[in-house]
Amino acid sequence: MASSNDVVRIAAVSDIHYGKSSQGALVPLFSEITERADVLVICGDLTDYGLPEEARLLAKDLTSTVRIPVIGVLGNHDFESGQEGEVTKILGDAGMRLLDGDAVEEQGIGFAGIRGFCGGFGRGALGAWGEKVIKDFVQEAVQETLKLESALARLRTAHRIALLHYSPIRETVEGEPLEIFPFLGSSRMEEPLARFGVTAVFHGHAHRGSPEGHTSTGIPVYNVAMQLLKEKFADRPPYHLLELRRDAVAVEPPAERRAQGRRAGDPGSTGESSDLAARAPSTAR
Ligand SMILES: [Fe+2]
Ligand SMILES: [Fe+2]
Repeated sequence: MASSNDVVRIAAVSDIHYGKSSQGALVPLFSEITERADVLVICGDLTDYGLPEEARLLAKDLTSTVRIPVIGVLGNHDFESGQEGEVTKILGDAGMRLLDGDAVEEQGIGFAGIRGFCGGFGRGALGAWGEKVIKDFVQEAVQETLKLESALARLRTAHRIALLHYSPIRETVEGEPLEIFPFLGSSRMEEPLARFGVTAVFHGHAHRGSPEGHTSTGIPVYNVAMQLLKEKFADRPPYHLLELRRDAVAVEPPAERRAQGRRAGDPGSTGESSDLAARAPSTAR
């Protein structure tokens, strides 16, 4: 069995929507995470209206409570007031690393992040055809996908984790009204995940979606929207804990990696998952 030093524990949550009266709201959650995990990731909608004062309240709670690295991406709500630059700066000054087509390494694990965009899934995805405004809309998803691709290409770590706000697959938005599926994500973002052998994907945005799904190549995708985790797993704090081995081999054939991803993505209802099972008969959850 792997010892605690052999594994990195990633706690993931999303859509915390800090508003003007949120001061202290997530201190208990952040306290638990800082005790149990090695890295905290937050997948967007950090604020409710994208206001600097909201970001400052979150920054205060993070700096007073969290003693582990914090990595994240912005969500659509963080753009609402057109002050996303200031929101990014405030949270950056508080030590949070916000990724926008960037990659960082922490505890030997690689993280690539984008906000992502919408447009729908599979055969129902909106195509770049007709009016310019439709082409521009589709182009946004294409651009975000290119940013994800270049971020993933920079990572040389054994494990690559993708952070998105919007979903790259349909499965984790199921539970939402069918009519709004196209506004919850885009399957255009799925292709680079397989090509770069991503270990797992975290996203949010679909507050009433499904907690877990897989890409067409078997990569586990976790919707960690806090509202969803609260509703589905009322008996535990609303975050997902993913455990990864530090000593994973750095270069693996994509096919083998995908097979491991399939086995890693079976957390049951505990909200925890581990890649340990793919490598040793461990009982990490
Ligand atoms: Fe949200
Ligand atoms: Fe959102």
